[in-house]
Amino acid sequence: MIALENISKSYRKNIFGNQRTDIVKDVTFNIQKGETLGLIGASGCGKTTLAKIATRLMKPTTGQIEFDGNDITAVSETEMRKMRQQIQIMFQNPESALNPRIKIYDSIAEIMRIHKIHKKNTADEKRKVKELIDIVGLQEEHLLRYPGELSGGQVQRAVLARVLSVEPKFIVADEPTSMLDVSVQAQILKILKDAQKEYQFACLFISHNIGVVKAVSDRIAIMNEGMILEEGEVNSIIDAPKTEFGKALMDNYYADFYVELDRVAN
Ligand SMILES: Nc1ncnc2c1ncn2[C@@H]1O[C@H](COP(=O)(O)OP(=O)(O)OP(=O)(O)O)[C@@H](O)[C@H]1O
Ligand SMILES: [Mg+2]
Repeated sequence: MIALENISKSYRKNIFGNQRTDIVKDVTFNIQKGETLGLIGASGCGKTTLAKIATRLMKPTTGQIEFDGNDITAVSETEMRKMRQQIQIMFQNPESALNPRIKIYDSIAEIMRIHKIHKKNTADEKRKVKELIDIVGLQEEHLLRYPGELSGGQVQRAVLARVLSVEPKFIVADEPTSMLDVSVQAQILKILKDAQKEYQFACLFISHNIGVVKAVSDRIAIMNEGMILEEGEVNSIIDAPKTEFGKALMDNYYADFYVELDRVAN
């Protein structure tokens, strides 16, 4: 569904000269339909930058991006607009994910309106929004409130409903649950996984929490200082990392997360 090839991103380092600093260095990966690639790595290693490039919110300095058989590396904004419906991104901070002045109902319906799937406040739109809140576990009363009148977990459920509303083919989740407590995290991840089974979207899931990445991913890539150091099936990467950096990462293991995830799943 999505393939990144030899992607690099650099920024100018100084205001006078033209020295550059590389944030992402020669990254290659692909994600199939219905598959989740987990991306882990320390803070500042370039994960969010890579997420923005994969969704074409940002252009890479070099390299190629293919989405659903199309080269989208250099397509114009107009062409990209048509594809935006298929590519959705969820960010880390639920507070800034939704416009604080827009009611939850309108936030969930907004992307469908932009892509002209339903007209504003029609019965069809309301039916679709109701269907979405049932999937993510919100109640009708939440729809009439502003984001500030919901808990962090409820806001993130609304964000997920908004993202799922247009049935995207590719979702990037950039630490979507890192601000939430463990039991709420587990519930939201389960909703994401269940939705993936139904809609078969490809997912790039970013986190520095190995337990979280393990729970949702089919494959894992370990990133450090802009490079992907190793990549493979979840269990082989977690049980037998090949690089020193990978081994050090696996020592930060959140065992209690699994207990909570089992509790929610059963
Ligand atoms: N527009 C920019 N110009 C220059 N440098 C940038 C820009 N955006 C990000 N950076 C730098 O790129 C590096 C990687 O940032 P990025 O946000 O991708 O890291 P991250 O892996 O997502 O970190 P975290 O886990 O903390 O979210 C950082 O050192 C950051 O300061
Ligand atoms: Mg980040």
